[in-house]
Amino acid sequence: MSDQAERLRSLVAKRSHQPAINTRVITVTSGKGGVGKSNFTLNYALGLTAQGKKVVVLDADVGFANIDVLMGIKPKKTLADLIRREADLWEILETGPNGVQFIAGGSGFQELLEVRTEEYDYLVSQLGQLQGQVDYVLIDTGAGLNHQTLRLLLASDEILVVVTPEPTAITDAYALIKTVANRHPEAKLKLVINRVESAAEGRETAEKIRLVAERFLDLKLPTLGILPDDPIVSKAVRRQTPFLLSHPDSQASRSILKLIQEQLHGERLHDMSKTDGQGHGVKQFLHRMVRLFR
Ligand SMILES: Nc1ncnc2c1ncn2[C@@H]1O[C@H](COP(=O)(O)OP(=O)(O)O)[C@@H](O)[C@H]1O
Ligand SMILES: [Mg+2]
Repeated sequence: MSDQAERLRSLVAKRSHQPAINTRVITVTSGKGGVGKSNFTLNYALGLTAQGKKVVVLDADVGFANIDVLMGIKPKKTLADLIRREADLWEILETGPNGVQFIAGGSGFQELLEVRTEEYDYLVSQLGQLQGQVDYVLIDTGAGLNHQTLRLLLASDEILVVVTPEPTAITDAYALIKTVANRHPEAKLKLVINRVESAAEGRETAEKIRLVAERFLDLKLPTLGILPDDPIVSKAVRRQTPFLLSHPDSQASRSILKLIQEQLHGERLHDMSKTDGQGHGVKQFLHRMVRLFR
């Protein structure tokens, strides 16, 4: 067993003496591509980790896997190896900077759509080990709504829709929100407004989408946070070092940290740490993904 696997096992062993955590599966998506999903997901994960949360990032963007590139690590095994029962959870979990955990999807999410019963049982026994041990499983998706992404979204506990103030990004985001809301009226969707030139532009963008969703879909659409257009993001991508680590004082980093502080404050008010035992987490996610939304 590798040192890393050893560390992960002892982490879980230690954790198992503590009360179970309310694990939540949060998927990050967008209508239009290139709006900043992967950068947001990674830096959001790092910010949550810095606040003492246990986070696993799952890269579901088949063919364009880029979270690993953004961190400068090369995954050896992917979710696809796990589904084929050629690897266990410890072998597909990579440790990124500051202890953030990462799983490359590979072709795994595609294969999830067609798993057989034996594979499903193994999948649940493996990924199910995250249940109660990690606070958040964050899934980064590709842009747009294919069959696979829709299933992912419908199976998640929460959906973050990243959108920029560009009119094309807004209309594409709305189209995606509409499809999800029609299929699953109980879906918990939240907006992340990215690349704004001013706070006012961010608020206006959020308000525009919120009003249309309320009026035409009867859907509540809160905003998780607003992030500025910041040249540090593109620099960080080129250096393959997440901006939250290389430039914690940048505007982009400060906005992410503020968003996280507000989110965690809200979660404490609602005492989200308690498991409600129902409808949440990794096992429910797999059940919905594989069985329910066929
Ligand atoms: N807040 C931001 N400020 C400036 N540029 C950004 C910001 N977010 C994303 N970008 C730029 O957009 C590019 C695409 O981001 P990425 O996270 O890969 O998008 P997606 O995952 O949605 O395709 C990045 O390489 C970066 O150059
Ligand atoms: Mg991406």
